[in-house]
Amino acid sequence: MKRRTWLATTAAWVAAAPTLAMPTSPWRKPIPAGGERLPVVGMGTWLTFDVDDDAPAREPQRRVLQRFLAAGGGMIDSSPMYGRAERVIGDLLAALGVPPADGRVFAASKIWTPLGAGGPAQLADSLRLWRRPRMDLMQVHNLLATAPHLATLRAAREDGRVRYVGITTSHGRRHDEVERLLKAEPLDFLQITYNPADRSAERVIELAADRGVAVIVNRPFDGGAALQRLAGRPLPAWVGPELGIATWAALVLAWEVSHPGVTCAIPATTDPAHMDENMATLRVPPPTPAQRRRLAQALAEA
Ligand SMILES: NC(=O)c1ccc[n+]([C@@H]2O[C@H](COP(=O)([O-])OP(=O)(O)OC[C@H]3O[C@@H](n4cnc5c(N)ncnc54)[C@H](OP(=O)(O)O)[C@@H]3O)[C@@H](O)[C@H]2O)c1
Repeated sequence: MKRRTWLATTAAWVAAAPTLAMPTSPWRKPIPAGGERLPVVGMGTWLTFDVDDDAPAREPQRRVLQRFLAAGGGMIDSSPMYGRAERVIGDLLAALGVPPADGRVFAASKIWTPLGAGGPAQLADSLRLWRRPRMDLMQVHNLLATAPHLATLRAAREDGRVRYVGITTSHGRRHDEVERLLKAEPLDFLQITYNPADRSAERVIELAADRGVAVIVNRPFDGGAALQRLAGRPLPAWVGPELGIATWAALVLAWEVSHPGVTCAIPATTDPAHMDENMATLRVPPPTPAQRRRLAQALAEA
């Protein structure tokens, strides 16, 4: 939906439903370890930010990042596995004049190597590429050499180069191992796949909540397939007047991040208009449990 159409539609709903109070500040949820509040929609960078060095090649990413920041976005997630993405993020944040420590961006990356001894060098690379003295979150990517990398990251947290430590998995893989780690290790964050096509993480998300671990939802659109499937279908009539939701993208994200155990979701896009749609979720009044059940039902029936 075009930005102007979206604004007009939302304004019409607000006029028609005077009880809908659109929040004035972004929807945020607390990180259990410490209580800091994160915007519920962040940004992924897999494939989307792995682009060439020259300015024209990076223009879509610059605009995507600009819209993300303007809308109040917080977490940006990357990894050494994502090719040039970390470098592109670091360069574009600098070009957009975002100082490393102004608290707007929550910088999240990963260690991704089977060699325990390779972890410290990857952390140093991330700090250099993101142009920061400190990463907000470092995660062990896909449970690769988890024990030595957690030791590296905890040491870095002690000396102030990392604020939070976590693990990631995706595509419904290795949930038994994730559950074991949640019970055995003190972790700040878990990143896991959760979307309308794959709800298998729900049990793990509940365990994470019990253990005081923040949950990041990766692949929130099932790599885009969830939205392709929903494209062209009518939105449920009530979601506009009750929640100010104007797109399937915002509906899917609102359903995901209103899970009580979820802290934020990190959709990836190369399209500034899609970024606007995704970030509109930050203006949704947090759904009640009953509204969340109706969102789930709408997704199941669509
Ligand atoms: N193991 C791990 O740690 C792990 C694994 C997977 C993913 N991740 C993280 O999670 C992030 C998100 O996952 P993902 O990139 O696999 O998939 P995703 O966010 O579920 O889907 C991305 C796709 O959705 C499309 N899209 C985004 N917003 C849209 C909108 N409003 N309308 C229509 N299409 C839209 C994008 O196309 P357009 O470019 O056309 O918008 C893109 O093709 C990754 O980038 C990465 O940071 C981590």
